[in-house]
Amino acid sequence: MSRKGIILAGGTGTRLWPLTRAVSKQLLPLYDKPMVYYPFTVLMLAGIREILIISTPQDLPLFRLLLGSGQNLGLELSYAEQAKPEGVAQAYQIGAKFVGTSSSCLILGDSFFYGAELVRLMSEATSRESGATIFGYQVADPSAYGVLTFDSENRITSIEEKPAKPQSNWANCGMYFYDGRAVDFARGLKPSARGELEITDLSRCYMKDHTLHGEKLGRGSAWLDTGTADGLLQAAQFVQTLQVRTGMLIGSPEEVAFRKGWIGSKELRGLADAMGKNAYAETLRQIAAE
Ligand code: TTP
Repeated sequence: MSRKGIILAGGTGTRLWPLTRAVSKQLLPLYDKPMVYYPFTVLMLAGIREILIISTPQDLPLFRLLLGSGQNLGLELSYAEQAKPEGVAQAYQIGAKFVGTSSSCLILGDSFFYGAELVRLMSEATSRESGATIFGYQVADPSAYGVLTFDSENRITSIEEKPAKPQSNWANCGMYFYDGRAVDFARGLKPSARGELEITDLSRCYMKDHTLHGEKLGRGSAWLDTGTADGLLQAAQFVQTLQVRTGMLIGSPEEVAFRKGWIGSKELRGLADAMGKNAYAETLRQIAAE
């Protein structure tokens, strides 16, 4: 059974109001693409082709409009509503039928990852057939995140959600690889004091089992916060800096589908032509002609 992917792209995005009063955060521009393109391509880079997109009842039709069936990228996309933002782990209740007993990867629709080691670490996570893998990234102020501690073999020894006194600077990134037990574990979760089904509690089910593996994303990688106006602007400038300098794209689903061999150069050119005249389509045309 191949690993399934879930993008959780609901929430209220209150830290970005009034930007996100009328439209989902994950549809806002991160430089030249909608934010959701970035986690979407991360799943694709992990080799995941069956993806469930979860969002609010109001925004879900817009995600469908943007991403469609995925067929033109060699993917199989499906969509589900989260009626209310009742926690990240709820993705595994909403997606229970979709995931079944397959292994899976859940990524938050507002997470931005970049770095050469990412693909290697994801491929190691994917090859780990039992247990779970979560990722840590060193941040100056971890108190707004789940905070991780590791043992000498990189197994996770503690996760604390938004602690007042963090035990390390390792923030838990918004990407989680779980084996086929995730749906079952999610069924047993109870809402936390803040009324949410916590992803930390789902990961803790694996920790109790001593099968929660941690990967540290080093200083050569980026995991950026896109949930505030400053974070969003900084992430956009990061993408702009690299793209303008190199002429290459970051977070292009069309390009990744092509590099993975899921579509050919003819299909890629077709996708670019359908987009008309703009810098993004022009870069895709160049890639198709390589
Ligand atoms: P958060 O940052 O916790 O919440 P938010 O994005 O709604 O923003 P704010 O704090 O500004 O109000 O969510 C992290 C990601 O998970 C984000 O992509 C939204 C998503 N999410 C859901 O889709 N459903 C949920 O129930 C929760 C809690 C989050």
